[in-house]
Amino acid sequence: MRGIGTVTAVRVRGNFREACLGGGIGRCRIAIRDFLVAADDGRADMVWEHVVGRSVVLAAVVLLALGCERAELGEWESSAQAVKLPEELRFTVAAAVRKESGTVLEPRFVGVALPKSEADRRRLQLHLKHGQAVYLLRCVQCHGTAGAGDGPVAASLYPRPRDYTKGIFKFTSTAYGSKPRREDLIQTLIRGIAGTSMPAFRLLPKRDLEAVVDYVLVLSRRGELEFLLSSEAEAAEELEPETVAEYVDTVKSRWLEAGSLATQPLTPQPELTMERVAAGREAFLTKGCSKCHGEDGRGHTKDNIGRDIWGHATRAADLSSGMLRGGQEPMDIYRRILNGINGTPMPGFRGVLESEPDTIWNLVSYVLEVSGRRREETLRGVAEIPAGLLKPYIDAAESVGAGDSSDSGEVSAASDQEE
Ligand code: HEC
Ligand code: HEC
Repeated sequence: MRGIGTVTAVRVRGNFREACLGGGIGRCRIAIRDFLVAADDGRADMVWEHVVGRSVVLAAVVLLALGCERAELGEWESSAQAVKLPEELRFTVAAAVRKESGTVLEPRFVGVALPKSEADRRRLQLHLKHGQAVYLLRCVQCHGTAGAGDGPVAASLYPRPRDYTKGIFKFTSTAYGSKPRREDLIQTLIRGIAGTSMPAFRLLPKRDLEAVVDYVLVLSRRGELEFLLSSEAEAAEELEPETVAEYVDTVKSRWLEAGSLATQPLTPQPELTMERVAAGREAFLTKGCSKCHGEDGRGHTKDNIGRDIWGHATRAADLSSGMLRGGQEPMDIYRRILNGINGTPMPGFRGVLESEPDTIWNLVSYVLEVSGRRREETLRGVAEIPAGLLKPYIDAAESVGAGDSSDSGEVSAASDQEE
């Protein structure tokens, strides 16, 4: 153990020196990341001992000298919104966020008191550092260091990796507008998100899975607090300690209540028969679904271009793709229809369908049938819904190299290639 620790520490130290002195910011950041990975539990003290003394100070000096203001060592990057605040408010927000959520080196949950005993505190710290190490190995390239969905490969993905810092998640078992339960996130990790680049992590050891989900929660709560405080500071042009405390409470209670908010079906699941599929199709055409999803469920309607709360282009799902993102189980689809999908134009239909709960199951039957039909019919050569190519979903304005702010609705992959 000691041997391995020492070797790692030496390697990490070597990388640091080389990368931060000669390699420029990109490589220096990678070296810092290596360091954080190596600093995971058992090796932490070792790496600390060997590396921190000189190299961290060295790296910090180099980063500052290079004008890399936003990525100070030991801090998560501030959001663009926070960075734009006047200097004094920016410091106030940063200090409040740091006090509540800790730092990269010592992460903690906003709004959750630290355990009383020293041993429990240390156990929690090791758990979160372990989650961080898993995150830096398996998630950061898409979701970004602070969880803002801005990792190095994010810009070339559709849909974009989730920006956790809004505290908003799509595939939850809870009512519209609520936080997910921790179980929902674990489920998402185990299943992945079909039809997107979000991989399934079902083979991760349980310890890694639990720890990385908690680290995502740390980032999410931190991001949400920073967002709330920055918005308040922007609007009120000041930020009192009492206001900070209120927002910490808001974050805390929102997450707390989600734990007990799993939606149950209004009526037990019936047998999903072809009669229900037919009735579901009728409801699909009359209750407003086809307006967005199209009569055949493929989403090929003229107006089917929207933006999600993260500012990216999104469209009503192609229900016939055979890849339902939120899960293929009847209960998954039921929840999407009843609760809607947070952060996207997909509305919840609780208000409309509460008085006719049978219709919800009919719609579930129909969605399931549409979702499997294209593949089966294509295989048998009798496809009613052609399998042909859809227009690419990547908004030209969002493709690599283009600014994020353009509102151009043009959708063209060809134009990417012409550039
Ligand atoms: C190759 C890129 C990629 C990697 C690697 C990746 N993700 Fe994702 N992740 C995505 C994308 C894309 C989405 C958004 C899908 C969508 O909007 O439907 C997403 C969404 C999520 C969500 C949000 C689900 C919801 O309900 O809104 C969570 C949580 C998540 N990822 C966690 C992780 C964790 C934890 C890891 C590492 C263990 C990870 N991801 C690795 C691409 C990635
Ligand atoms: C205002 C437009 C709109 C209406 C009306 C609408 N949807 Fe959606 N729906 C969406 C969008 C947008 C998404 C994709 C959200 C995302 O993942 O970004 C979606 C996603 C879904 C999904 C999840 C698909 C998946 O990949 O898991 C289901 C199921 C669904 N809709 C069913 C319905 C049904 C049934 C109705 C009618 C009762 C309906 N929708 C009405 C816009 C709409």
